Amino acid sequence: MSFTIVEQAPARMNRSELAVPGSRVELFEKAAKSATDVIFLDLEDAVAPDQKEQARKNIIQALHDVDFGKKTISLRINGLDSHYMYRDVVDVLEQGGERLDLIMIPKAGTAADIYALDMLVTQIETATNRKKRIGFEMIIETALGMQNVEAIAAASPRNESLHFGVADYAASTGARTTGIGEPHPDYGILTAADGDRPRDYHWGDMWHYALSRMVVAARANGLRPVDGPYGDFSDPDGYRAAAKRAAVMGCEGKWAIHPSQIALGNEVFSPSEAEVAKARRILQAMVEAQADGKGAVALDGRLIDIASIKQAENMVRLAEQLNAD
Ligand code: COA
Ligand code: MG
Repeated sequence: MSFTIVEQAPARMNRSELAVPGSRVELFEKAAKSATDVIFLDLEDAVAPDQKEQARKNIIQALHDVDFGKKTISLRINGLDSHYMYRDVVDVLEQGGERLDLIMIPKAGTAADIYALDMLVTQIETATNRKKRIGFEMIIETALGMQNVEAIAAASPRNESLHFGVADYAASTGARTTGIGEPHPDYGILTAADGDRPRDYHWGDMWHYALSRMVVAARANGLRPVDGPYGDFSDPDGYRAAAKRAAVMGCEGKWAIHPSQIALGNEVFSPSEAEVAKARRILQAMVEAQADGKGAVALDGRLIDIASIKQAENMVRLAEQLNAD
């Protein structure tokens, strides 16, 4: 182990995170009654410029009136390059009471972006004597943000999670696709010619590097990595596959841009009974191994060692967290 201890952000269920435009008040109650773990009330790109002010008012009212139960509630503010942002923060924090848990920072580009927001939020919290400290979730969705992802992740003690905003990221990097988190038929390889055997074409995951890089930056700073949207909400199989590959890489959840994606996210990011049972067997086997003075043993014909304990503990902890809810 390094001498540097990585402090973990406060634990929260983040399997599904539902996007709700602040301009569509009729969706607020539906979102509150849904099974999503986190709701982000949006003031940014799902809200047209002429509706920004009204959306802000809608959200302030909803924070007082809507019963969101135990859900985590986040506010996606406008970008730091827009003049809407300061009022998003000032008005909602000053007038929205104590219900808000998180602020989601879109297009985070540098550590200084997070620092600037931390300063503003800290001043408002102090002036209003706010009891609950606001946490930050950052969307990594630009080339600049990806270049600085490590510094962004470490920029504030308020930081809780990093999110991969695949559509803006594609636009920012000049990726030749209009899909949102979907695979692209041009991203693949043709197997080499081999006599008369037919050549296969293998599709690849064009987001692998970006997502993987973000996961590492998040985990190295004790934050939750969360995968972003899957645009085709009529394709549950595509969503499930994208979510599973994110889960395998270490993400704790995925956005839902339509209510039909909530159950899919919750399903994929909850460990199955079989996975939990296997994890418990690994922990038991390692207890026995250590009693025998061994650091590595075989279970079902496979190696397990000290690292397996940590993997298994993560799985069991998640299952226990789920059962507690
Ligand atoms: N939150 C809560 N409820 C929602 C919802 C949301 N984000 N999106 C749709 N619903 C509700 C609808 O009101 C409808 O309810 P009903 O059955 O009581 O009538 C039901 O879910 C089915 O909705 P549907 O008619 O299929 O969708 P729509 O055409 O009304 O809206 C979208 C489709 C994509 C425009 C809408 O889901 C949406 O705005 N999603 C969020 C997009 C967003 O914020 N993007 C920014 C981040 S990438
Ligand atoms: Mg975006």
